Amino acid sequence: MTALENDLLATLQQAQEALAKASGENELEECRAKFLGRKGAIPALMSQLGAVPKEDKPAVGKTLNAVKQQLQAAFDEASNRIKEKKEDLSALDVSLPARHNRIGHKHPISLVMDSAVAIFRRMGFIVADGPDLENVWNNFDALNAPQDHPSRTPEDTFYFDLDKRHWLDPETMILRTQTSPVQVRAMMAQKPPIRVVCPGRCYRRDTPDATHGMSFHQIEGLYVDENVSLADLKGTLAAFSREMFGERTKIRFRPHFFPFTEPSVECDASCIACGGVGCRVCKGSGWLEIAGAGMVNPAVFTNVGYDPEKASGFAFGMGLERIAMTRYAINDLRLLYDNDVRFLHQF
Ligand code: PHE
Repeated sequence: MTALENDLLATLQQAQEALAKASGENELEECRAKFLGRKGAIPALMSQLGAVPKEDKPAVGKTLNAVKQQLQAAFDEASNRIKEKKEDLSALDVSLPARHNRIGHKHPISLVMDSAVAIFRRMGFIVADGPDLENVWNNFDALNAPQDHPSRTPEDTFYFDLDKRHWLDPETMILRTQTSPVQVRAMMAQKPPIRVVCPGRCYRRDTPDATHGMSFHQIEGLYVDENVSLADLKGTLAAFSREMFGERTKIRFRPHFFPFTEPSVECDASCIACGGVGCRVCKGSGWLEIAGAGMVNPAVFTNVGYDPEKASGFAFGMGLERIAMTRYAINDLRLLYDNDVRFLHQF
């Protein structure tokens, strides 16, 4: 046997041993480079083939082929072994805790809005919708707001195009300050009887603090038929409060003023935190203000084309932020809009 054949067989043995030990993709690659690569051991030996005496050539060539075949077999075997190991699920530690997927959910304001809508739907109200971008007529004039009402000034309301239009012009566009213009839209679109609720976003030029934002959410309710009375309004808000805040919740009306209702009231519910005894949540009074409401002013009926002699109805509007803050014991409105998931995922 020639020296070259000896070297070839020795190299084959080295390669087989290294491959048998290889336990990963990287080690396999290292072997490939070391034995078969451009500067590897086998190509180096093959380059010596030219120097072999002619009579030895057939034998050396045979050995070379055999070495190549066995080398290939050793590589295949190692590569299969490594692949199988990768697929072997028993290598997983199934006792490890599962990775927690945090999925999203509704915002607390949406949760409160959904419950309020569900309660009113059970009482026969349907949901009406209106745009956030309103005109002055729907938001103020139709609702009987006097021209000198302070909420109409550009200091209190977001106006558009004031360089081209006056803020008292009925067609000037604003961001609605209340959901009440949806009452107007609903009445203009259909004759009584009418029973709608409108949840939605409103905008006012307030400086943001713990209890004010420049936008907030209301749900407005409107019921118009014949012979609707203040007692119907009270019954509706009492039933709502019991469902929303608990079976034992009581309500009370205090006289108030809204241009679009007459008489007008503010509605309080007994405090859900203390049941009416007086605590920090209700600032000791035992009551929480939940809604503005009243009997629709006949002037509004005239504005929307209803007969004020025949139509009668009530309307109410409540702030959803306040309800959410009470329900979830949140003490700062801004928490609802910072969108910190550590806060939001609690609900
Ligand atoms: N729109 C009134 C407000 O924003 C609330 C309200 C609605 C009062 C309907 C009476 C009737 O304060």
